[in-house]
Amino acid sequence: MRLVSSIYERRPADFERHAAGSAYNALYDRPAMLNLLGDVDGQLVLDAGCGPGLYAEQLLARGAHVIAFDRSTGMVELAQARLGDRATLRVHDLSRPLAWLDAGSVDAIVLALVIHHLDDRVSALRELHRVLRPGGRLVLSTHHPFDDWRRLGGSYFAIELVEEVWMGDWDIRYWRQPLSASCAEFFKAGFLIESIVEPQPAAEMAALFPETHAKLCIQPSFIMFRLLRALR
Ligand SMILES: C[S@@+](CC[C@H](N)C(=O)[O-])C[C@H]1O[C@@H](n2cnc3c(N)ncnc32)[C@H](O)[C@@H]1O
Repeated sequence: MRLVSSIYERRPADFERHAAGSAYNALYDRPAMLNLLGDVDGQLVLDAGCGPGLYAEQLLARGAHVIAFDRSTGMVELAQARLGDRATLRVHDLSRPLAWLDAGSVDAIVLALVIHHLDDRVSALRELHRVLRPGGRLVLSTHHPFDDWRRLGGSYFAIELVEEVWMGDWDIRYWRQPLSASCAEFFKAGFLIESIVEPQPAAEMAALFPETHAKLCIQPSFIMFRLLRALR
């Protein structure tokens, strides 16, 4: 089965406009993920599923060397326009091997709001594990399984493809699954879970998006993991 959130390929600029300043991306996902990633100064960071380069821009500002890729050509073009020659950019689909990256060659990986779009999450995670140096970390964010269950109903334990339309005309396809299934996939790919974060919104959200802020203070929407590649 071919799975992609086609809005990302057909209208990448819409995502860029949204994600640059939205409550969920700019004031919830990115600050919490960058905090979880920690110091990147002088490190080589792979931004997998980089979208328009909003993360890569932040990583560069924190002193990282950045390699970024996305399956959407339009997203990579937007990232190129944003980052110029400050990062190495590439069109690449995570369903294929990262043959252009050596084993153990990157210090850290960011996989922000991508994993739930993948059919074969274990194979993709195995490849990311391969290119990460021993002791390196992968930070990833995804839908909180509780939030998917709250919105979608049915069984919390269902592992199934969901098709939805967001914000009027964004067709989105993603996998829902329980927390235990996600953790099992991480272990299967060789990762150890160092920490799990159920983030709070950034303080600035209270003034800019008060209703969303109030909701996210009491109800999780995303969940984040810091995964480690063991030293041996
Ligand atoms: C919600 S966006 C997140 C973009 C970026 N990580 C961010 O948080 O700003 C999801 C991104 O995953 C990319 N994506 C989805 N499936 C992919 C795949 N199989 N390989 C590489 N990128 C993929 C999409 O093209 C899109 O840019």
